[in-house]
Amino acid sequence: MDLKQLVADAIDQSLDLDLLKDEIYDVLEVPRHEGHGDVAFPCFVLAKQLRKSPNAIAEELAENISGEGIGSVEVAGPYINFFLDQELVTEDILKEIYSQGDEFGQLHIGKGENVTIDMSSPNIAKPMSMGHLRSTVIGNAIANIEAKVGFNPIRINHLGDWGTQFGKLIVAYKRWGSEEAVKADPIASLLEYYVKFHEEADKDDSLNDEGRHWFKKLEDGDPEAVKLWKWFKDESLKEFNRIYDKLGVKFDYYTGEAFYNDRLQGIVDELDEKGLLEKNQGATIVNLDEFDLNPALILKSDGASLYITRDLATAEYRKETFDFAESIYAVGNEQSYHFKQLKAVLQRAGHDWQEQMHHIPFGLITAGGKKLSTRKGNVILLEDVLNDAVELAKEQIESKNPDLPNKDEVAHQVGVGAVIFHDLKNDRLNTFDFVLEEVVQFEGETGPYVQYANARAHSILRKAGFDGSKATDNQEFKLTDDVAFSVVKELNQFPSIVEKAYMTYEPSVIAKYVIGLAQSFNRYYAHTRILNEDSELQSRLSLVYAVTKVLEEGLALLGVEAPQEM
Ligand code: ARG
Repeated sequence: MDLKQLVADAIDQSLDLDLLKDEIYDVLEVPRHEGHGDVAFPCFVLAKQLRKSPNAIAEELAENISGEGIGSVEVAGPYINFFLDQELVTEDILKEIYSQGDEFGQLHIGKGENVTIDMSSPNIAKPMSMGHLRSTVIGNAIANIEAKVGFNPIRINHLGDWGTQFGKLIVAYKRWGSEEAVKADPIASLLEYYVKFHEEADKDDSLNDEGRHWFKKLEDGDPEAVKLWKWFKDESLKEFNRIYDKLGVKFDYYTGEAFYNDRLQGIVDELDEKGLLEKNQGATIVNLDEFDLNPALILKSDGASLYITRDLATAEYRKETFDFAESIYAVGNEQSYHFKQLKAVLQRAGHDWQEQMHHIPFGLITAGGKKLSTRKGNVILLEDVLNDAVELAKEQIESKNPDLPNKDEVAHQVGVGAVIFHDLKNDRLNTFDFVLEEVVQFEGETGPYVQYANARAHSILRKAGFDGSKATDNQEFKLTDDVAFSVVKELNQFPSIVEKAYMTYEPSVIAKYVIGLAQSFNRYYAHTRILNEDSELQSRLSLVYAVTKVLEEGLALLGVEAPQEM
């Protein structure tokens, strides 16, 4: 329900202003303080026209305004403050939530068009880091939000499974590796070889040549090289999938960089035919001066392809295959330059659809203020973080609710949910420090806090034996207290919150919203005896049920589970 619209209608019907209804609507404000009403009309806008002071105008007009849904009208200086008819508005909003159920907040901005989301995309033979966690959960939430506004999201894992580093890895494995070690603990072993390679190569540069040589062999399909590479990849994927299972994230495609190998020549030919390729010190480049960017390096002097070459092939493939309305890349902001170059090359090649490609960058997660890196081996392993989070959640559940039957399941939902939520509640671009103990807290602006509010609401419903999903036409929705009304108004925000999250590619909009809703609900819970046997009991239960619906749907958009008991 659009509360501003209610007021705009009333103003439009009861006053004879030289303003269109839309113009009235656009100037209406939602006051910060509840004491200033639900909607306010600032009269400055009329001062010129009516040649009076805004205060005088407010006094004069306020007397004559009335209309459906308007409870009372007050003047505060130049503002006319509207207090809505709480009973009527509450009933309308709650009925809307009940009748729409899971569909509440569903928008129809999209008409089912495909939106590809490039997300997670870790590099094989390396541990998935906290940085990849960000891409995974941000990408997943954006995909959920795209679906909620009417698009068909396609989640693609663009695995980093190609590049000179695999030549290096093969060299390292052949020198220092053992099959047993890789089988026993694949990623740790491969990482060890990789780190060792860099240490040794710092002393002996010829190792780098050897690495390049083996990558060339891999590109040329040498059986030994291909076999090793495939094996590294399979072992890595097993580990990644374990983490995705924990996170509850699924992909539609695992098409990594290597998937595009047989399309690289096509890209080079296309750029060549369009006259875009130039030679520069033996390398093949596309000049991007007109975009104020450095040239894009398409082929090295030895003819090897690069990251951007493969991304060009990827972009064209996705356009051809999915005819996307939008193509989203959830990738850290350290790659912003790469995506600018990528789009610029496509633009030069005449592909106007590059405008539908959006790099959605995000900031770094640090631990104790330090950047996390896999290169030197000082990594935070995502799986350890998740396991620790679940452990911590379990301890808290153990002390709060020792009799809970499915403790392990709930600890998983809470621990993993806490990590995901923490990642998403920060504005994407913020850099933030990760302190596990703060993340898995039941108090404060955390995932468990929101989950706990939801579980509390469910426990009230259980005690009352209330099942909102079976609500009948006689369900009551009459509430007449201010605290309830502020919860109702907050629920009513959900569709516009979804829209804002979609427009800005910001899951944090939803995370912040569910925190706010959980807080309002907790205030209501502290202030009102919800289960009191009086004439409004059924209506209060209706409200509590609506709160669970919206909290759960909000959390679901973020990819966070919502246990009904915890
Ligand atoms: N594998 C890359 C990394 O870990 C991210 C890939 C992002 N996607 C892309 N299409 N370039 O840095």
